[in-house]
Amino acid sequence: MKKNNIVLVGGGSTWTPGILKAMTTHLDEFALNRIVLYDINEKRQEVIGEFAKILFKEEAPEVEIVYTTDKEVAYKDVDFVFCQMRTGGFDMREKDEKIPLSLGVIGQETCGPGGFAYGLRSIRDMEEMVKDVRRLSPDAWILNYTNPAAIVALALDKLFPKEDKILNICDQPVNLLRSFASLIDLDVNKFEPVYFGLNHFGWFTHIYDETGKDRAPEIKEIILNGGFRPVDAEQRDQSWLETYAMVEDMLIDFPDYLPNTYLQYYLYPEYKLSKLDPEWTRTDEVRIGREQKVFEECRRIVENGTARDSKVVHNDAHGDMMVEVAASIANNLRKTFVVMVRNDGIVSNLPDDSMVEVAASLGANGPAPYAVGEIGTFYKGLIENQYAFERLTVKAYMEGSYTKALQALTLNRTVVDAKKARKVLDALIEANKEYWPELK
Ligand code: NAD
Ligand code: G6P
Ligand code: MN
Repeated sequence: MKKNNIVLVGGGSTWTPGILKAMTTHLDEFALNRIVLYDINEKRQEVIGEFAKILFKEEAPEVEIVYTTDKEVAYKDVDFVFCQMRTGGFDMREKDEKIPLSLGVIGQETCGPGGFAYGLRSIRDMEEMVKDVRRLSPDAWILNYTNPAAIVALALDKLFPKEDKILNICDQPVNLLRSFASLIDLDVNKFEPVYFGLNHFGWFTHIYDETGKDRAPEIKEIILNGGFRPVDAEQRDQSWLETYAMVEDMLIDFPDYLPNTYLQYYLYPEYKLSKLDPEWTRTDEVRIGREQKVFEECRRIVENGTARDSKVVHNDAHGDMMVEVAASIANNLRKTFVVMVRNDGIVSNLPDDSMVEVAASLGANGPAPYAVGEIGTFYKGLIENQYAFERLTVKAYMEGSYTKALQALTLNRTVVDAKKARKVLDALIEANKEYWPELK
């Protein structure tokens, strides 16, 4: 089996320790020669990088570990790029959430104006990353998790139309599948899902088990009778528990399909707004939660010189998925994953150039998506509206167009009113001066 050279972009991310741990437990299906951690923030990178050295010294000493803030080192001779950067960091995420909320609109990392603002920041760095990677590693696979993945995927498809080795992925479909599997006491790997939509905007229509039986009706029934909690509820903050609980509300109103949790913001913007606090958002929760926990634990491990006793660093759903996706490509395993791909007829009544999220078999030549066919009017209407928002956001970026930005926000179901959209847009322009192209 080929031993891969990989780089983790955003090596100082809160998710990196879990991904590295997952790499140590998947070496038989994804063999490694060298891991480079790359970040623009030296301090964050050093803590996680030193942790990585200890973890691999103990679990797989043959794998070389490098951490760097030099992209010339990072992108040279790699087979796989795992990308998970956050342009502007948590300081800007906080603004994405709090500015819209202060103006009476949903404030969320990837949905509504927050996702719009984050999108305009991410595109520039992502474009630069792809160009740098192609200069130094022309054949590398680029696996992208950077949010807002829907907008990033669409922008990269427009900027690099000939690219066939960039794959955008989100872990929420698999997170949901794991939780569905636990409801019916089944191994998640036995599931063959049928899923359609855009990233953070989709539905499971069927969830087949290994016998070919569709288990979705049973899963819906259980949720409608007893509510819904994530399988890893003990490790989740309160806001995530509330988010999972909303799946029951969505099923009561729209019983056809099992919805992605992010649809709560688009289907119930008024209710969600009434529950969100402009002074205390998800960023605050992450700062005192995941971020603090991960960095404290890595510092402790570095001080003690061993990671063997760590209960904090474990391979979570996110890390497992990232490594399994890479393994499926590297070894042509053709496993099924829910991924983002250019539509090109997969959902026959949606625009060809939308980046849909669907199930695909994943092998050495990339995703081979399964056809979905025609979708119903309600779903088509919702998705076309959201796609128009995404497309106009990308156009606003590429053309530096204020009007397209205003159109995008006005279309978004979390905003709707054009005067509100203008207020939010003007406040976000002010806050993002350092990061956005000028919108005229
Ligand atoms: P984080 O801020 O802890 O980590 C991001 C890291 O990226 C930081 O250390 C930062 O310094 C670094 N960075 C910023 N700009 C960079 C650049 N241009 N080049 C290299 N590094 C850069 O954030 P996090 O919460 O750990 O999330 C990381 C990213 O992964 C976010 O975009 C998040 O939304 C995304 N994410 C996506 C999924 C998914 O389902 N697609 C799941 C989890 C996380
Ligand atoms: C889910 C989403 C990701 C998101 C992650 C963490 O897994 O699919 O896109 O980045 O949650 O969100 P959080 O609010 O905990 O940082
Ligand atoms: Mn996601």
